[in-house]
Amino acid sequence: MEVTFTPAIFPLALSNLHQKELALKTIHPMNANSAFSRRQFLKGISASGFLLASPHALAVEQAIAPLRQLAKGKLIIGTAVPSDFDKFFTPKELETLSTHFDSVTPENCMKWNSIGQKEGEYRFEQIDRLMEFATKNKQSFVGHTLIFNRDENLPKWVFQDGTKEADAKLVWKRIEDYATEVMTRYKGKIDSWDVLNEFIEIPKPGYRETNLTRIVGADYPARLFKLAAELDPKAKLTYNDFSVEQPDRLKAILNFVRKLRDKGCKIDVIGSQSHVEIGEKTGDKLDKMVKQFAAEGFKCALTEVDVDVIPRKLFWNPKNRTDVSKINPYINGCPPEILEKQAATYKEVMGAVMANIKHVDRVSFWGFTDRRSWLNKWPWERVNYGLLFDRETNPKPAFHAVAEMLKKV
Ligand code: GLA
Repeated sequence: MEVTFTPAIFPLALSNLHQKELALKTIHPMNANSAFSRRQFLKGISASGFLLASPHALAVEQAIAPLRQLAKGKLIIGTAVPSDFDKFFTPKELETLSTHFDSVTPENCMKWNSIGQKEGEYRFEQIDRLMEFATKNKQSFVGHTLIFNRDENLPKWVFQDGTKEADAKLVWKRIEDYATEVMTRYKGKIDSWDVLNEFIEIPKPGYRETNLTRIVGADYPARLFKLAAELDPKAKLTYNDFSVEQPDRLKAILNFVRKLRDKGCKIDVIGSQSHVEIGEKTGDKLDKMVKQFAAEGFKCALTEVDVDVIPRKLFWNPKNRTDVSKINPYINGCPPEILEKQAATYKEVMGAVMANIKHVDRVSFWGFTDRRSWLNKWPWERVNYGLLFDRETNPKPAFHAVAEMLKKV
């Protein structure tokens, strides 16, 4: 008879955390069943290639060169860090964070809906703690993100005036107050500000329609970039978006930033989020993307890299959604051949970076352990393996692929 084995590995208080981060604290290959047999658990661990903390595993770990060291002088290597990381990261995660990365991006705590849930209220505590960690470890900081052009990422009160809807003047005044408060507080401490996130949407009208575009107007990005440049003239200012390398979006985004620059805005970097899927042929596209921006005087950064091992394209067709959202093939671990295939995809992404190294400012991964990745939750719940380190914070083939590419230049 099998002994019932209930994992008690992540006994965390989950209150007050961003919705997307919530479940990530509890995500584990065992999470599909609340009670899991010990035999199943061990079988899953060995099938996944997880390294337990054996002396051999530790020796292997000690032998790996820190990514930030491999990239030194060529490229900034960064990672996103979840809110309250210092309350639940294991010592090994904290060490990995400080050893391998020279830039941190707050995953959620620096968004307006996290800082300012009520009018006149500013919550900086989580940002300050991450900044303290970064300063101690000589890491630079990404301001992510001043304005996120999605209604769900902006506080509702911004658009209300008592019982009425706020008008353009009031909304803009609130943006100015907010930007002034945040950018002044962190002036000189932010290497790069994502001034605007996810503005472009195709097809017509060419941008995502939100309360901001509707009330303030679709030309608010120019005002925003000018404001940001005044508030922190030394920070690199970034426009950040997803699928920037896809030809139709590349054309639209190039056009958009070109127009902003023609209006007198300072834009230094174009951030390509680069949430890639396994086997996706993005190398050539990323290569073209960097070259096209470089030809017009913009640097690029890959700002949110991860490689989903469970393709999600079919999910976007609403007809498939119910079926696709049941797909969860790697509950007991990710097969080695999939991890190798994922490493090849990482290699392709890094290949495009290394070939254009002078024009790439930074590569940041959207987290570093599979255990915490948003891909376990988005766009549907499944056990995912998108990052460089496994759930026990051991380097995966993807890590070695990135390290190998960093050695090339
Ligand atoms: C986008 C945003 C990030 C974050 C990720 C998912 O890529 O830019 O801030 O919300 O989605 O976690």
